[in-house]
Amino acid sequence: MSGFSQSDALARVKPSPTLAVTQRARELKAEGRDIISLGAGEPDFDTPQHIKDAAKKAIDAGHTKYTAVDGITELKDAIIAKFKRDNDLSFERNEISVAPGGKAVIYNALVATLNPGDEVIIPAPYWVSYPDMTYLASGTPVVVKASAENHFKLTPDALESAITDKTRWIIFNSPSNPTGAAYSKAEIEALTDVLLRHDHVWIMADDMYEHIVYDGFQFATPAQVEPKLAERTLTINGASKAYAMTGWRIGYAGGPAPLIKAMSKVMSQSTSNPCSVSQWASVEALNGDHGFLADRNAAFRERRDMVVSMLNEADGISCSRPEGAFYVYPSCEGAIGKKTPGGAVIENDEAFAKELLDAEGVAVVFGAAFGLSPFFRISYAAATEELKEACTRIQKFCASLKA
Ligand SMILES: Cc1ncc(COP(=O)(O)O)c(C=O)c1O
Repeated sequence: MSGFSQSDALARVKPSPTLAVTQRARELKAEGRDIISLGAGEPDFDTPQHIKDAAKKAIDAGHTKYTAVDGITELKDAIIAKFKRDNDLSFERNEISVAPGGKAVIYNALVATLNPGDEVIIPAPYWVSYPDMTYLASGTPVVVKASAENHFKLTPDALESAITDKTRWIIFNSPSNPTGAAYSKAEIEALTDVLLRHDHVWIMADDMYEHIVYDGFQFATPAQVEPKLAERTLTINGASKAYAMTGWRIGYAGGPAPLIKAMSKVMSQSTSNPCSVSQWASVEALNGDHGFLADRNAAFRERRDMVVSMLNEADGISCSRPEGAFYVYPSCEGAIGKKTPGGAVIENDEAFAKELLDAEGVAVVFGAAFGLSPFFRISYAAATEELKEACTRIQKFCASLKA
């Protein structure tokens, strides 16, 4: 019998670095260390009660069977209403896809469309899964760096020069994981102007953090900013972040019917429908009261401001104040090349994160995992006292480094 070997496509994929950090933090905790983990990408709030109640009602009503592969009609209608209400986008039911999480929506779209050699433009810093999902779908990621000077946003020139005959998609994520940067309408327009000139390029707009924005920021999405692009745009959103429903696994998208049908074909031979109970809960999430969002965003904003100002007081760290999501992406450039009291050299952001965890028990994710160094990501979806303690420890760690 021959030994195990993984597929060529899987061999190109790296395990999720964010999960690896969380795992390492968990192990140290189990050893009795006092660890603060700021690695996870999920709200620390609970799912709102009215959404939980809708799920209980769905179970009692017997909504416990297989459903239509890409979503129940009631949820598709709630999604159509949401796109109209929030984004001024119009869809029919056959232009809506529901899947087990935003991640599955993106994966289905890539698997449904990519052939070997097809390129996917991914602005960096990027959400860790985009390049690896592209590999799994036999495509080739084309990473385009967006600099800190440009607030981690892709410029029209950089986009233009990344487009080739083989470009199939550009993945556009605003507000961004990992930086929290969100594009204004004018910034999106500068990019959609480029895309109008390249009609073979499709746009995947990942709007997962749409509802988590601060200081009156006006969210916009490419198909809304440039309606001429709607015929080649997949607009993606989900229940995970806005409604604190990460465990329920509901993501959705609106886009051209042939693409939606192809994504349904992928699901019909892989996952089948997303969880029936979660779909009914999501109907309530989308149609129900959204009042809780303002309170939660106010709490997130306070934490963001505290974290940004405390990090900027740390030696060698500089951190900008992003428009949305619950992440900051500080630079640790000033710490690179320095030594810990134990003599370890901070050679890069990965070493910075490792030594910080070992010395002070604060778990963050290093920037190389997101395609742009020397930075690290902090998720501030954690209790305020915990965040304050974590930032104090980061200050202490930075102060302990010697040139
Ligand atoms: C930018 C971005 N897109 C998509 C997702 C996927 O969300 P989920 O699969 O939990 O719905 C995440 C989750 O971390 C994310 O940060």
